[in-house]
Amino acid sequence: MNPAELSFRRFRRLRRSEGLRRLVRETRLSVDDLIYPLFITYGTGVRREVPSMPGVYQLSVDQLPSEVEELRGLGIGAVLLFGIPEHKDELASGAYDEHGVIQQAVRSIKRYDPEMVVITDVCNCEYTSHGHCGVLVGGEIANDPTLELLARTAVSHAAAGADMVAPSDMMDGRVLAVRRALDEAGFIETPILSYAAKFASAFYGPFRDAAESAPAFGDRRSHQMDPANRREALREIETDLEEGADAVIVKPALAYLDVVALARERFDVPIAAYNVSGEYAMVKAAALNGWIDERRVVLEVLTGIRRAGAGMIITYHAKDVARWLREEAGAEATALLAAE
Ligand code: PBG
Repeated sequence: MNPAELSFRRFRRLRRSEGLRRLVRETRLSVDDLIYPLFITYGTGVRREVPSMPGVYQLSVDQLPSEVEELRGLGIGAVLLFGIPEHKDELASGAYDEHGVIQQAVRSIKRYDPEMVVITDVCNCEYTSHGHCGVLVGGEIANDPTLELLARTAVSHAAAGADMVAPSDMMDGRVLAVRRALDEAGFIETPILSYAAKFASAFYGPFRDAAESAPAFGDRRSHQMDPANRREALREIETDLEEGADAVIVKPALAYLDVVALARERFDVPIAAYNVSGEYAMVKAAALNGWIDERRVVLEVLTGIRRAGAGMIITYHAKDVARWLREEAGAEATALLAAE
């Protein structure tokens, strides 16, 4: 048969130049989608790199103005705060302390840059002496007593000026408890970004170094989800939305892109994916060894997360990505000018 009569498809026609590829590109990364996590520690003058997360630092509150200025300069408009308190105790009292590290950090950032969107992680594990996410009763995390602590913490964050609170503990009923407490305290307009589908993942390892929050014994499998379960993830998301979540997070991102995609189809709410510490550390380690092209790998990873359906991406790569996107935009503008 004459090949000219064969009607196979010529996909390559639209791949012939960068200009054509740009026109038919389905997914675009934007700095608007990025949320940058910050680890806030006690003391002053602290800027300590996390060994397993090169390029990520624990910062004391006094470092925040310059940090926020850098983020602004890069076009990053949202941060997610984690706290490392000076004192930890059984009841995580540092979590809801009006003068706690997070409450101070929120006030400092909002004073310096009121437009910066400040999201706070609401959990107890960084504040308990045993490193568990809730109150221990007989060696187990007791669900309902923990809800009160979470609610109190969320209200203290809102009172400090947080734009959004993000409960990450995975207790049952926490979104309802947090919503009620916020409403009662007069914060009816403070949205909840719920870590709705949070899996019991080995990819959180480096984070626990960064936040100094590894459990002293046991693990988090009695409350975080089994990595094998997708239907259950959808029920978790549905439940959090019924309880009052305004937007949801799927976490981690890469091993759970099917959950992101399914959630995108089922629920018409904003969805964030958390590109977690272990995912960051893997890329960094390979890049530092010269085994991969960091820039291309990171842009590919984040494009994949967007393509799966996440609108927002929480990522430690945010600063680099913002720089690279800007460089690309600059290069395109220069190329267009040169072509004129
Ligand atoms: C809990 C919390 C964790 C992360 C975010 N919030 C750790 C955990 O559940 O053990 C992990 C984030 C990351 O790995 O980047 N406060």
